[in-house]
Amino acid sequence: MMPVSLKVQKMIEGSSWVRRMFEEAARMKRQFGEDRVLDFTLGNPVDEPPPVFKGALMRLAHDPAKGVHRYMPNHGFPETRAYVAERLRAETGMAFTENHVVMTVGAAGGLNVALKAILDPGDEVIVPVPYFVEFKFYTENHGGIMVPVETKEDFSLDLEKVEEAITERTRAIIINSPNNPTGAVYTQEELQRLCELLQSASQKNGRIIYLLSDDTYWEFLYDGLEPVNVFSLYPATISVRSYSKCLFIPGERIGFVAVNPQYEHAERLMEALILANRVLGFVNAPALMQRAIVLLRDYRFDPSDYQQRRDAIYQALVDSGFQVQKPKGAFYVFPKVPVEDDVAFVRDLQNNHHLLVVPGSGFGKPGYVRLSFCVDISLIERARERFQEVGKKYGLI
Ligand SMILES: Cc1ncc(COP(=O)(O)O)c(C=O)c1O
Repeated sequence: MMPVSLKVQKMIEGSSWVRRMFEEAARMKRQFGEDRVLDFTLGNPVDEPPPVFKGALMRLAHDPAKGVHRYMPNHGFPETRAYVAERLRAETGMAFTENHVVMTVGAAGGLNVALKAILDPGDEVIVPVPYFVEFKFYTENHGGIMVPVETKEDFSLDLEKVEEAITERTRAIIINSPNNPTGAVYTQEELQRLCELLQSASQKNGRIIYLLSDDTYWEFLYDGLEPVNVFSLYPATISVRSYSKCLFIPGERIGFVAVNPQYEHAERLMEALILANRVLGFVNAPALMQRAIVLLRDYRFDPSDYQQRRDAIYQALVDSGFQVQKPKGAFYVFPKVPVEDDVAFVRDLQNNHHLLVVPGSGFGKPGYVRLSFCVDISLIERARERFQEVGKKYGLI
């Protein structure tokens, strides 16, 4: 007798490699000791939130204002949405107001709200490969079907393949730039061409294809790269953002969805997003966090520290003979593995080198592994020697 839904049982069985590796890591650390195991598996930053975050919480705890812990509009406190809109206006020069913003339970909540708002059963959602594995679950949560589309060798968009994948049922493409797991950042020209494609396919199909831009790693851009304003490229753009990474508070669950002020159906889309936030049971994003981020208006994330870690891990992998694209953003690196079976390679690294990484198969891309560099730089330094060991063993150097 099956005590849970068959559908969920299947999801558990095909469940995330990242989580599985996390559990393995905990087991190995208990067995061999914390410093013997070099863990590059998770996107959970080791950094603590900036001191101003704790300061904001202290101020809020002592704030005598009444009614601030009650229910609120489903899209969040008006002051918080107004603050987010102000930032978006400054960033894009576009006419964002509080009526274009829904505060959400992180980007994860935001993606679910957005997909709930736009998908009908059987609708297709194109996702460039490799992808954040939750995209599949989130799409299926709302009756959609994920359509994976290969990217080029350097993980840039293969627009011909995207065009081939578009059908009458295509409702959205999820892009994630800077990307988890590759660190790729799409260029203005690439995104411009993608948007032209979406525009003409929407017209041909008589149905809007949304650009759902998962901008979770928005602030993690290296070498002075400037973010591309995706709203200016395409009206049916929905951006999903998060404070998890830039403030190092993933446990606090705060992010937002922004709708393009230039989109002719912006108002109707907002109504759908607000309803989705309610009926998915989120009700509203955490109240305390909504008030905290307004108090952090002068804080700006500085990616230079992460750029250093990026440089260190990239160099260590190159010096060990790995074929790898240099990440331009986010905090992951995605080298090719020297054997066919990435899972066997991961097992070897784990059992014989105490190095923990995630197989590319977990992101729909066998033949690669993902290493997360949101770790202490000393861990990267210590890993150099082990990468060298592995490089020699597999004849890469
Ligand atoms: C690509 C991507 N999207 C969304 C999320 C979820 O972020 P949040 O903590 O804001 O829900 C993550 C988290 O790792 C991610 O990597």
